[in-house]
Amino acid sequence: MQTFHTLAELRAALHDFPARTLVPTMGNLHAGHLALVARGRELGAPVVASIFVNRLQFGPHEDFDRYPRTLERDTALLSQAGCSFLFAPDEAEMYPEPQTFCVRPDPALAGILDGAARPGHFEGVATVVMKLFAMVQPTAAVFGKKDYQQLMLIRRMVAQFALPIAIAGLDTVRDADGLALSSRNGYLTPAQRAQAPQLQAALHALAKAARGAHLPEDVLALESRAMRDLTAQGWTPDYLTVRRRCDLLAPGADDLREGAPMVALAAARLGATRLIDNLEC
Ligand code: PAF
Repeated sequence: MQTFHTLAELRAALHDFPARTLVPTMGNLHAGHLALVARGRELGAPVVASIFVNRLQFGPHEDFDRYPRTLERDTALLSQAGCSFLFAPDEAEMYPEPQTFCVRPDPALAGILDGAARPGHFEGVATVVMKLFAMVQPTAAVFGKKDYQQLMLIRRMVAQFALPIAIAGLDTVRDADGLALSSRNGYLTPAQRAQAPQLQAALHALAKAARGAHLPEDVLALESRAMRDLTAQGWTPDYLTVRRRCDLLAPGADDLREGAPMVALAAARLGATRLIDNLEC
């Protein structure tokens, strides 16, 4: 695997590879990221992984400063996983001047759920992903379904800007006890780690109950109860909700009657650590 820290070096190296698959990450890699690389390799073109902790997508009181930077270990993992190129720019390379041109995603999608809890987050994500697309010029890119709303937003951005990039979404990789892998799991104390699978259990219970609901108000009541139960277990939930898969809006009576594809989504804090997860249902 070849590692580049500058755009000029990356572009020179990629010159001979018209097809390439991008796996964008913020580093501190785990098996979920390596599964994205494996999926990228299946697509046939050389995989370009990027590692960049993107300040633009963090709120002022979020964990940008303490987000783990583990480039040496990440490089070894990517190399073992068969990644061809690693692009790891520093902030000056990614943002040589203040990024005053930004991608503003549709608030109907970017202003709800995680977008409501983290104002500006998805603008930061869309802007850096658009910039990575411009830098790497991939023919395909792989994103995890754990960041469900992010994946939907990227798909829409690619469609609306007619970018010639095939977006692949990959199922969430989980630990044996069901906890979705996340770099932020490393913030949990041993006691919190033992408790963390409760989030996925809450999603399972809510998804199952919502599948039996006939009216939107029944779903709302189930969500309120699920939030109360999670709170009683010591969590501080931002949301625990069932939405339509097509647009992440609340299901109407027709959706419930017709069994429209849905997804249960959750974001909740355990101590100082905010975890997200989701379950298609
Ligand atoms: O999912 C992530 O790790 C980040 O949001 C991404 C896509 C790498 C953009 O910084």
